[in-house]
Amino acid sequence: MAAWKSQYPPELTIDIVLAGRSNVGKSSLINRLVNRKALARTSSSPGKTRTLNFYSVNDAWYFVDLPGYGYAKVSHSERDAFKKMVDTYLETPRPREIWQLIDARHKPTDLDCQMSAYLRSVGIPYLIVATKADKLSKNELAKQKRVILRELELDESQLMVFSALNGMNKDALLERIDRYISAGQEI
Ligand code: GTP
Ligand code: MG
Repeated sequence: MAAWKSQYPPELTIDIVLAGRSNVGKSSLINRLVNRKALARTSSSPGKTRTLNFYSVNDAWYFVDLPGYGYAKVSHSERDAFKKMVDTYLETPRPREIWQLIDARHKPTDLDCQMSAYLRSVGIPYLIVATKADKLSKNELAKQKRVILRELELDESQLMVFSALNGMNKDALLERIDRYISAGQEI
């Protein structure tokens, strides 16, 4: 049974690209959206994901887990190699959307802001996903949403709060992927 369009047989393949600091919850988001405990490896030791990982979902689309940026313990040459790998991927035309994950609890860091400017400059549809929303009260979350929108100069449609722990907005994100696939098919 295919509950979502993204579970239908493939007509078009798209990449949902996940960018964000190490430990922000990229692998956890993948696992929650595909309902698998360990499709993407999660870890408590930041920086474990060091390659560009493609996860095929229902033969219809891919999650692309970019290496966590801003991990201090990585050497300069390693960081340069990551950047080159990511740049090469982003410069190759493919249907895709970028989701930049940031921690809902904190003000975006300088690196988050730089990354946001860079990712938006590439001209690919872009969404901020604020992770670990379960760790905040409703009021705190509302406040943090305003902080994030202000700091990154985004409008509300470009932000989604999310929790891999309790599934908050999981369906909204899946619907977004469905819409994206449908839009592609009309072209
Ligand atoms: P790298 O692969 O190192 O870049 O990290 P990542 O972005 O893939 O992070 P990962 O999914 O491995 O999560 C890091 C830690 O945060 C793990 O201990 C997760 O259990 C925890 N975590 C991730 N998402 C959530 C969430 O929504 N809520 C809570 N409470 N914890 C989360
Ligand atoms: Mg990871």
